[in-house]
Amino acid sequence: MTRTWTFGELEISDARERLDVDVIHGYLTRSYWAEGIPREVVERSLEHSLGFGAYLGARQVGFARVVTDRATFAWLCDVFVLEEARGRGVSKRLMECVVAHPDLQGLRRFSLATRDAQELYRRYGFEPIGDPTRYLEILKRELYAR
Ligand SMILES: CC(C)(COP(=O)(O)OP(=O)(O)OC[C@H]1O[C@@H](n2cnc3c(N)ncnc32)[C@H](O)[C@@H]1OP(=O)(O)O)[C@@H](O)C(=O)NCCC(=O)NCCS
Repeated sequence: MTRTWTFGELEISDARERLDVDVIHGYLTRSYWAEGIPREVVERSLEHSLGFGAYLGARQVGFARVVTDRATFAWLCDVFVLEEARGRGVSKRLMECVVAHPDLQGLRRFSLATRDAQELYRRYGFEPIGDPTRYLEILKRELYAR
């Protein structure tokens, strides 16, 4: 079952078949966090995630991806709005749909990492990690740039 939310001319949808891989890969491969990411890696990530597309008419202008077991944990990533659609609330509508999604209720932990959009996510309940010494990761920052 897929869901669509409508906000005037903007539509947000979790339908995987609507996602425009050209738009998503086109943005991610020039993003600060996934520069150079191969298209097949993006396709595999979409297959195994809950993706949210933002659409103005037929055109995808924004995206958010949630990696999740749909029960206890979720990781929000790859959030972007194309330059020409920024500043009109698209990312806020995307975030409203992410936090309201029925498969993302009752999670014990919902995490994300961001360089400078903390204030956007704080509005939806995300807080800085209380005790960073408890949080460990393997991070290959330059993986796709090589
Ligand atoms: C961040 C981004 C998704 C915001 O999208 P947008 O649709 O233009 O944002 P909105 O119009 O919904 O407004 C976002 C709100 O968050 C605020 N905000 C906080 N941090 C922000 C940031 N780093 N960039 C943009 N807005 C930010 C804005 O000021 C705005 O608040 P306001 O409503 O009080 O004016 C978009 O600028 C983008 O794609 N940036 C490049 C990729 C990126 O940084 N993604 C996030 C990675 S975690």
